[in-house]
Amino acid sequence: MMETLGRVLVVVPTYNERDNLPAIVERVRAAVPDAHVLVADDNSPDGTGEVADGLAAGDDHVHVLHRPGKQGLGAAYIAGFRWGLEEGYDVLVEMDADGSHQPEELPKLLEALADGADLAIGSRYVPGGKVVNWPQRRELLSKGANIYTRVMLGLPVRDATAGFRAYRAATLEKVGLSGVESQGYCFQVDLTLRTSRHGLRVVEVPITFVERTVGKSKMSGKVMSEALWRIGMWGVAGLPKRLKGPSHD
Ligand code: GDD
Ligand code: MN
Repeated sequence: MMETLGRVLVVVPTYNERDNLPAIVERVRAAVPDAHVLVADDNSPDGTGEVADGLAAGDDHVHVLHRPGKQGLGAAYIAGFRWGLEEGYDVLVEMDADGSHQPEELPKLLEALADGADLAIGSRYVPGGKVVNWPQRRELLSKGANIYTRVMLGLPVRDATAGFRAYRAATLEKVGLSGVESQGYCFQVDLTLRTSRHGLRVVEVPITFVERTVGKSKMSGKVMSEALWRIGMWGVAGLPKRLKGPSHD
């Protein structure tokens, strides 16, 4: 499968994930030994950047992108994707550092790409997908965000906010990263929308999302309000086309 897909880069954004990073990198390396890992660290005060440097020093498949400060999940991914495209990777994967995404499920995402998807989303909300250990409040927030997204954008995707996904490099090149302004988690919806509007093939693969046991989520009021207003704006901007007919979606 890897032969047909080419070189795979797993981008892992980190902010204060010192105690999670070594295990997740080890699991990625074991699950897909040919894949490379890029840690995109926002100068974490807990020293995650140094932990990442230590991992990179001992493994030529591990790389680190040091960023000056906390600029948001979306900004970290865009920087990581740019790095990967410049280095000539063929597939760019998004994965959290906290163990919520199982590296052992990564081959499923890569298979979906090998089978013709342009973007494979690890989805919690298709049959077979699950969330383990989320407090009810967080589950409601996530489901609400997906309903809001569907209503606003009419996207044919159950889990548009998902953060475990694999893009073909060609997808990111076609979609273009320079116009992406999302700083926080709405980056996920932003790229799903762009990929879908380009007529590219988005496939959802069921995954099990397991809430972290170590460290804290970086979800915040700021992240939520950015998602609310941006998705609202994209919805309004796309309305004339949607009203004209379904063929444009
Ligand atoms: N570099 C960087 N900068 N990394 C960040 C930042 C940031 O500003 N904010 C978060 N991260 C990293 C975390 O360190 C972690 O590795 C990953 O991004 C996910 O952050 P969490 O804070 O654990 O996210 P979550 O569990 O609340 O949300 C997950 O589910 C959402 C959908 O429900 C993520 O997968 C989101 O991407 C997803 O939208
Ligand atoms: Mn998390």
